[in-house]
Amino acid sequence: MAEGRKLAIVGYGKMGKLIEQLAPEHGFAVALKLDEFNNQDYEGITTENFRGVDVAIDFSIPGAVAGNVERIAALGVNLVIGTTGWLEHLEHVRRVVEERAIGLVWSPNYSIGVNVFFRLAAEAARLLADEASYGAWAYEIHHTTKKDAPSGTLLKLVEEMKRAGYGRPIDVSSNRAGAHPGTHEIGFDSAADTITLRHTARSREGFARGALKAAQWVVGKKGFHEFTEVLFS
Ligand SMILES: NC(=O)c1ccc[n+]([C@@H]2O[C@H](COP(=O)([O-])OP(=O)(O)OC[C@H]3O[C@@H](n4cnc5c(N)ncnc54)[C@H](OP(=O)(O)O)[C@@H]3O)[C@@H](O)[C@H]2O)c1
Repeated sequence: MAEGRKLAIVGYGKMGKLIEQLAPEHGFAVALKLDEFNNQDYEGITTENFRGVDVAIDFSIPGAVAGNVERIAALGVNLVIGTTGWLEHLEHVRRVVEERAIGLVWSPNYSIGVNVFFRLAAEAARLLADEASYGAWAYEIHHTTKKDAPSGTLLKLVEEMKRAGYGRPIDVSSNRAGAHPGTHEIGFDSAADTITLRHTARSREGFARGALKAAQWVVGKKGFHEFTEVLFS
């Protein structure tokens, strides 16, 4: 595919490098890469660096997201946020997006399968909301370098279950080991039986392709959007 649009990669770690590798297939040329060496105090977010950039994809660290969004939005550049663990700044980020009239897509998980899984979890929770004999759990495991726990994806799964009307406690747990790209599981257990719903990522590629799909979608759009809108609306 032609590389017609310019992309800024914010956070050049495992995900940032994969985004760089797959960008040309999605019609993007990488015009800028920011990491901890050239953006420690946001010094990489300048008018000059971002000239001609159509969209920025952020897979950095939780503590950098709000500052990155403030400064990139001030330059009028649209964003895709993949970083997790920054939800205490969600309302602030939403306000910045509205005030600066940019477009932003956010998801704790850009794999298509997990976004289907969000819906399945909500539906199972809705169906079992009034069945008091069932208890629920939510579990995830990731590689040891993941900085936040529980994962943003697990928090979203639990949020979807509660929003679907499941009012009883949901026992949440996390493990960190090895190089695991991410497994999420929810389940319901009663004296009679167990239901287990599990998503297992095989690699990070699905996340990178999803984020690039969101980047294509957000070009020319305004407002705060979730990836589910990109996939299902
Ligand atoms: N939404 C999804 O589908 C999805 C999928 C996978 C991962 N994630 C999330 O994406 C984030 C990145 O994951 P990863 O596996 O790529 O982690 P990673 O390999 O640790 O990469 C993050 C990179 O960002 C750098 N960084 C630190 N401060 C920065 C700043 N101010 N500006 C730009 N870059 C900065 C880090 O440097 P230092 O290491 O020196 O701090 C590191 O190189 C995590 O929050 C992870 O949970 C989301």
